[in-house]
Amino acid sequence: MERGKTIVLAVSGSLRARSSHTSLLMAMGERMGTDAEFRLYDRLAALPHFNPDHDGDGADVHEAVRDWRKALKESDAVVICTPEYARGVPGSLKNALDWIVSSGELSDKPVAAISASPHPEGGGAALASLIATLRMMNASVPDSRALAIPFFSSGKLGPDGRVADPDIAASLQAAAESLWDAARSAE
Ligand code: FNR
Repeated sequence: MERGKTIVLAVSGSLRARSSHTSLLMAMGERMGTDAEFRLYDRLAALPHFNPDHDGDGADVHEAVRDWRKALKESDAVVICTPEYARGVPGSLKNALDWIVSSGELSDKPVAAISASPHPEGGGAALASLIATLRMMNASVPDSRALAIPFFSSGKLGPDGRVADPDIAASLQAAAESLWDAARSAE
């Protein structure tokens, strides 16, 4: 039987139009196999604030929540790249994750988690918090797919948004390969 495209859903924790974390995601996408379909999810800002009263049995679940869950369900693997805000995960990303705790779209899903920062620990607090949340949801996020990028600045991206720094490029390549292998073997 012919194999279809492997779908990788990319989620940026930054809502900024010119987000460096979104650029890192695109760089990761370029490092996936040629039969990967790399989809950038850009509707996190459309999600309402999580409220358990608006979820579960009998609830009229918001259209944006249904869309978010569908995008995750359709994907074979997920990569989340997020800035650190106030030593944690940005609220919009945490809100999106709260919406899928009970619905379970990330259960057993191969996930890569990335955070970059100018600080020496490279967004480590946000990354640790993100990984704890993902693992609580039974996402498959081994250390080989958890990447903190320290001393990060926009200068490490070229003028076209591509990764100019060879160390960052190599780290993204390794994470992309780990995610790709896991996505293919999960099919
Ligand atoms: C930050 N930033 C930041 N950086 C960090 O390493 N630790 C932190 O706790 C914070 N806190 C923080 C709070 C708020 C409100 C903002 C706006 C920023 C800096 C942040 O990591 C930096 O702006 C990122 O580069 C932004 O990423 P994007 O939007 O370019 O993807």
